[in-house]
Amino acid sequence: MHPLAAAAVGFILTTACAQSQPVNTIPHLQQQGTARQLVVDGKPYLALAGELRNSTTSSQAYMQPIWPRLTAAHLNTVLAAVTWELMEPREGRFDFTAVDHILKDARENNQRVVLLWFGTWKNGKSTYDPVWVKTNQTRFPLIQNEQGRSLGTLSTFSDANRDADSRAFAALMRHLRAVDGSKHTVLMMQVENEVGVLDAPRDFSPAANQAFNGPVPKDLMDYLQAHKNQLMPQVHQAWEAAGFKTSGTWEEVFGRSTVDKNDWQAYSYLTEEIFMAWNYARYVGHVAAAGKAEYNIPMFMNTWIKQEISGWPGAYPSGGPQPHVMDIWHAGAPAIDILCPDCHLTNFTDWCGWYHQSGNPLFVPESAGDAVGAAHALWMVGRHDAIGFSPFGIDGSAGTNTALSRAYEVISQVTPLILEHQGNGTMTAIVLDKGTASETVRLGSYNLEARAGARGGTTAMNPPVALFICTGPDDYVIVARNAGIYFTSATNPSDSVALATVEEGVYAGGKWIPGRRLNGDETPEWKALRFGGDDYTIQHVKLYRYH
Ligand code: DGJ
Repeated sequence: MHPLAAAAVGFILTTACAQSQPVNTIPHLQQQGTARQLVVDGKPYLALAGELRNSTTSSQAYMQPIWPRLTAAHLNTVLAAVTWELMEPREGRFDFTAVDHILKDARENNQRVVLLWFGTWKNGKSTYDPVWVKTNQTRFPLIQNEQGRSLGTLSTFSDANRDADSRAFAALMRHLRAVDGSKHTVLMMQVENEVGVLDAPRDFSPAANQAFNGPVPKDLMDYLQAHKNQLMPQVHQAWEAAGFKTSGTWEEVFGRSTVDKNDWQAYSYLTEEIFMAWNYARYVGHVAAAGKAEYNIPMFMNTWIKQEISGWPGAYPSGGPQPHVMDIWHAGAPAIDILCPDCHLTNFTDWCGWYHQSGNPLFVPESAGDAVGAAHALWMVGRHDAIGFSPFGIDGSAGTNTALSRAYEVISQVTPLILEHQGNGTMTAIVLDKGTASETVRLGSYNLEARAGARGGTTAMNPPVALFICTGPDDYVIVARNAGIYFTSATNPSDSVALATVEEGVYAGGKWIPGRRLNGDETPEWKALRFGGDDYTIQHVKLYRYH
């Protein structure tokens, strides 16, 4: 570890132990119960974020009118690209102008930042590597397909590629430590963007073929054996079907792929995918570790997730951190703290569940920023203890009276309570985004049911959503929209449950300010809560039982 990184870690440990010292740690992840939280300036942090489009931060002037719109839209965090091509236009000559502009303007607009390192790969391709890399394919070799044709994308099977990227990323992190090590405007780093081989199941360059026909590395075999009972089912089954071998070539250990191009869930080229996942993980893990040695803040990978289209290869890049190869990534890239889905798809809730496994915290760096996205933001922080939510293209969509801005405004009121309850089993959420009429969850000693359409709104574009926080044996804080909330006893089915008191209100500075006391027509059937379809609102309810 770099001596300054060691000093930073030492500082964290010192301040954590010395309670009387002012807390001034660099951003890091910390366990709270079952949740892994992002801690910023000594306190858990919830990123109500948005991702800028790819080219936006390449011009400070272009960004000028956008910054205030982001703040007005109640974002607290912006995901912004930093590109290798602009940062190292000539080898070894670094230009941090674009980064410095982002930091200066973010601070002036009261925003925190997550930087996206567009290095060797962006969406599976190599388009952000500098021209001196692009044009020297002898020194910086490319992926080849089965016919031996170069695919225009840098190969993982090259120390030169990896080391050039690592040097640049380390320089960026060294710079960030110097200019932001005490201010903490930058919270996390995304390393590369949606990696994986496109248009082929794996790299077929001579070096890749040699590795594919050689032994599975001992480090990976050791990891699989140590975690044999916790592996994702697809990898476990492939390994089991091939006889749980502890050594051998990739096809000996994981079997020969059986190709079914028409079944999107068939994991047809699984062995090739495991092979590429390992090689991307090793490469990206090396880049991330080089950066962390300079400035040790959390680092994550985003994923072009598997999609419901046939005709693979081509449906998604092979080797990215998909949930079914999560173990391979954990084994190969320990410096990567979070594996993330870029989730623009309709089955958002399934993907969140698939990524929130094996100790992987949930952060969604790309999603939709419409009313559905806003509902997902609320749902995932409550149901999955998420670190944050970030719709893509926020520079285009941010406004003061959008579904997202209204949701973010209300979530930010409740953020201290949400963060307090993450990981301790006292918070959950429901979103009815698949057309179902209702869903019930148990929280504390009650079952909480969310029913669609308090005002008969359509569920496809305006999904009912509710976040529940249990604040006492009979007490709940509920943030919701477009839903009716019904209660039954989870401990004694013969009990009837009724409303003792219901208040609507707001939080200001973490303090509850009650508004109307709700009863009568505002509490349907005198036993439920009604949340309208226009806005996110907050209600406090106290329940009682009768026989
Ligand atoms: C996924 C990429 O990661 C983003 O950079 C962006 O190009 C979006 N797709 C566009 O939807």
